Amino acid sequence: MSNSPMTDLQTRYRGLELKNPFVPSSSPLTGDFDAARRLEDAGAAALILPSLFEEALHYEEERMTHFLDHQDIGHFEAETFLPDMRKYLSELDQHVERIERYKKSLSIPVIASLNGVTPQGWIRHALDLQEAGADALELNLYGIPSRRNKSAVEVEQNYLFLVQKLLETVSIPVAVKLSAQFSSPVHFIGELEQLGVQGVSVFNRFYQPDIDLTTRHVVPRIQLSHSYESLVRIRWIAMLRNQVELGIAATGGFHTAEDALKGLMVGADVIHVCSVLLQNGPNHMADLLRDLRIWLNENEYASVQQLKGCLSYRNAINPAAFERANYAELIGHDAWLKVDLKRHRE
Ligand SMILES: Cc1cc2nc3c(=O)[nH]c(=O)nc-3n(C[C@H](O)[C@H](O)[C@H](O)COP(=O)(O)O)c2cc1C
Repeated sequence: MSNSPMTDLQTRYRGLELKNPFVPSSSPLTGDFDAARRLEDAGAAALILPSLFEEALHYEEERMTHFLDHQDIGHFEAETFLPDMRKYLSELDQHVERIERYKKSLSIPVIASLNGVTPQGWIRHALDLQEAGADALELNLYGIPSRRNKSAVEVEQNYLFLVQKLLETVSIPVAVKLSAQFSSPVHFIGELEQLGVQGVSVFNRFYQPDIDLTTRHVVPRIQLSHSYESLVRIRWIAMLRNQVELGIAATGGFHTAEDALKGLMVGADVIHVCSVLLQNGPNHMADLLRDLRIWLNENEYASVQQLKGCLSYRNAINPAAFERANYAELIGHDAWLKVDLKRHRE
């Protein structure tokens, strides 16, 4: 089957018209200018910059104050070796400069990402990123609610308050990137939509601390994802699609065109890719696009639009497969599981 360029890959997401559904998500790869250019050349439809973390700015401010307080070391020659603070680019400056540079050099939409701690920080820095020229903003809602006295309702209300304040401030489209750890994700996303959020990215994937048995230290581990991790996203997007109107980005475990096709079929508007690009480099974007086109041609789809949502909960022939009912069926009746258990008893 020919790789016809006629297949229409366009998709609409948070008010942005994208030429195809593949968007490299926030990571050090998109923060590197050369890699960003290669991603655009290889066909990326937009890109999301690494998050600006508010606590990184606070930490930086503290270090800077400490440095300035100790700058006067009382020896002229020694002081000439100290860095010239006029040339110093703060973390925030670097994010702002990056957006300005990308906007001058790239033609695809550039989406900024923000992870704030305080309402003032969220708002001030969201404005900084908007003024630098970002086409849209993704809020990376990443907190670890570990306090016994903090209820789920309180955590959600704090998030909603922050998002509302931010929506009142910025004029560019806003999306929220969520973790999978919500008791009722569809309800929470519905609340975000009511506030005016234009898109959600489901679900972020975080590094997990590990234990080093030799040193008995807690150590951070970044492990890249695997394709099977896309399945939890696929399930939730299927259930979400017919209950909200906002844009849905699938993120987490989308490594191949097949993974992406499944995400689109259940109703995602765009597919974020991260681990697969970190593993294979920016040019891999072109392979993903080629494979997507081939599948669509072979299966006689004229456009991505035609495919989108065809297997969402409402449209699937067996929607119960997305639900708990299917779980009971699987563990109760599946023959191989019984055989396997028998083998371990022998
Ligand atoms: C090294 C690394 C850095 C990341 N940095 C960010 C970040 O700054 N902000 C953010 O929202 N997500 C960040 N992510 C999460 C990714 O954007 C993505 O949502 C997640 O890795 C799941 O997608 P994947 O399975 O394709 O990797 C990072 C992921 C990795 C691996």
